[in-house]
Amino acid sequence: MGAFASLLCLWLVLLGCEGSRFGQPEQVHLSYPGHPASMMVTWTTYEPTESIVVFGPDPGETFSHVARGTTTRFADGGELGTVRFIHRVRLQGLVPGQRYTYRCGSQEGWSRTYSFQALLNGTNWSPRFAVFGDMGLTNPQALPRLQRETEMGLYDVVLHVGDFAYDMDALDGWLGDAFMRKIEPVAASLPYMTCPGNHEQKYNFSNYRSRFSMPGSTEGLWYSWDIGPAHIISFSTEVYFYLDYGRQLVAEQFQWLEKDLQEASQPEQRKEHPWIITVGHRPMYCSNNNKDDCTLHESTVRRGLQPHLYGLEDLFYKYGVDLELWAHEHSYERLWPVYNYKVYNGSSEAPYTNPGAPVHIITGSAGCTERLDPFIPEPREWSALRVEDYGFTRMQIFNRSHLWLEQVSDDQNGKVVDGIWLIKDWHGPEAWH
Ligand SMILES: *[C@@H]1O[C@H](CO)[C@@H](O)[C@H](O)[C@H]1NC(C)=O
Ligand SMILES: *[C@@H]1O[C@H](CO)[C@@H](O)[C@H](O)[C@H]1NC(C)=O
Ligand SMILES: *[C@@H]1O[C@H](CO)[C@@H](O)[C@H](O)[C@H]1NC(C)=O
Ligand SMILES: *[C@@H]1O[C@H](CO)[C@@H](O)[C@H](O)[C@H]1NC(C)=O
Repeated sequence: MGAFASLLCLWLVLLGCEGSRFGQPEQVHLSYPGHPASMMVTWTTYEPTESIVVFGPDPGETFSHVARGTTTRFADGGELGTVRFIHRVRLQGLVPGQRYTYRCGSQEGWSRTYSFQALLNGTNWSPRFAVFGDMGLTNPQALPRLQRETEMGLYDVVLHVGDFAYDMDALDGWLGDAFMRKIEPVAASLPYMTCPGNHEQKYNFSNYRSRFSMPGSTEGLWYSWDIGPAHIISFSTEVYFYLDYGRQLVAEQFQWLEKDLQEASQPEQRKEHPWIITVGHRPMYCSNNNKDDCTLHESTVRRGLQPHLYGLEDLFYKYGVDLELWAHEHSYERLWPVYNYKVYNGSSEAPYTNPGAPVHIITGSAGCTERLDPFIPEPREWSALRVEDYGFTRMQIFNRSHLWLEQVSDDQNGKVVDGIWLIKDWHGPEAWH
């Protein structure tokens, strides 16, 4: 893309081809800060303004509460260094389970009204997730259905497992803006929880780090949070592949992961949140017909940097991670419980009842310009089911022992093409024996 075309696009944005003024809020999205009774609202303007959210219970007195937050200037790393202002306001003191309506903005302009339900607190409830990766501005096949199901109230949380917009930095960040506007009906209604993928790597992941507001201090590169009976760990597989941004990041993240897993494994913690679920972009295993890391026997994510430094398979096995969610491959693949290439079915009749190893799901088929990734004809014995359709995953953690996963095919008009119960009467490494 030449400088001229970039300039043209920028002009279109600045001239407000979508009717927006510089101070008009856009790209509104929610995220869960990790503390009960709170919710983060994030949005973008093209000039500095105040950051205000007005909100109130629904039904109830409209916009009876006001919350203020912060503004951060974000200059895209491209030649033009286009500038946006990212606004963040944390809503606190929400009543668990209560529905709220809100608008965000300032005197310079207000967003339309959105609503969300404050997450329930405690561990005794059954959170419902939409899970997918690899969704672009162009060809986001799963988006219309996700939008409809969000409006129908089918989900509590969205997990977007890396790779956004294709790419957020493209056209001097304009593509990122356009994508964030497109996902807004979903992301402004549900906490939209993310992890970085390879498509976010430009300018040291600055579009990813600047646009989202995940819990913790690492700008969403790695963080963890609790919801209902689960502890969810989101991390960057990309630190292993973009070493120029800092080889030390591999060690830093690994040490953080180990510490977080240790804490989550303390008996009182694990009793409260028995499910440990990881969310990372590039899988350890896959049977796609390409040369990606997951097709290698000694994949980097699985085994770490040469010579076997910071490999994640052993770490996750050691702490009894129950479920590992991945994307990157533009397809859906479910694995039998697997560790070090060996299948550890709970039993041959019920492989996912008290499995002897973590379960891996690869769900990267939400739709993008790169379309779908085909499979090799003969999968290895660890591969349980493969679907080469556009789609996304629904996950519901029913309680301490029961977790349901199902795969929706958009090619087959929303048909559920896979479904499993993952049943664990006990969690933690003891469960492997
Ligand atoms: C949930 O939140 C309510 C209202 O804030 C509070 O009274 C209750 O103690 C909380 N319950 C748990 C299990 O945290
Ligand atoms: C890239 O970002 C990370 C994390 O924010 C930082 O620690 C690292 O130093 C950065 N690397 C470069 C080369 O700027
Ligand atoms: C695991 O269970 C599945 C389903 O019963 C079966 O097809 C597969 O062969 C089993 N694998 C092993 C190694 O037992
Ligand atoms: C957990 O949920 C499953 C599925 O709804 C149910 O069959 C099971 O009885 C529940 N377990 C407990 C302890 O409530």
